Amino acid sequence: MLLPIVIYGHPVLRKVSEDIPADFPDLEKFLKDMFQTMDEADGVGLAAPQVGKSIRVFVVDGSAFAEMDPDCAGFRRAFINAHIVERDGEEVSRNEGCLSVPGIHEDVKRKNRIRMVYEDEKGERKEEVFEGIKAWIIQHEYDHLEGIVFTDHLSSLKKRLLRNKLNNISMGKFRATYKVVLPK
Ligand code: NI
Repeated sequence: MLLPIVIYGHPVLRKVSEDIPADFPDLEKFLKDMFQTMDEADGVGLAAPQVGKSIRVFVVDGSAFAEMDPDCAGFRRAFINAHIVERDGEEVSRNEGCLSVPGIHEDVKRKNRIRMVYEDEKGERKEEVFEGIKAWIIQHEYDHLEGIVFTDHLSSLKKRLLRNKLNNISMGKFRATYKVVLPK
């Protein structure tokens, strides 16, 4: 089932998400819907707050970057109750976009390596280090769990320049090929 995607300006994108219990109802179905929604919208990731749920769940698919980074081939995963415990390595600037902020693409600097604890789809607790493009994709989605949107990372000048565009997006003035939920 395709889930509508929440658009910039909606308060759910500003909430800090909560861990979910092991017996969270219909998690399997929710993850299936998340993957389907991400695929249909051509996203490389989708976080639960983007479909209106303040829970620490996100899905990623880095296969589109396999040519740039062979590590990304088959990098299609769900992360549950994710917590980044360490960020290091150099800062790398990459051009980002977000399904919740349609039409805006800006360079964002992020650490190139992270260590994260999480549960996989089977509920197994894991601790893993991610580097390069994987770490980049994860940090963008992880930000959504913390109530952060990628434009928050821009300089105040850049933010000022984007203010009108962002206001227009909040008011529904954009094109998207997927179903959306606008801020009230
Ligand atoms: Ni996003």
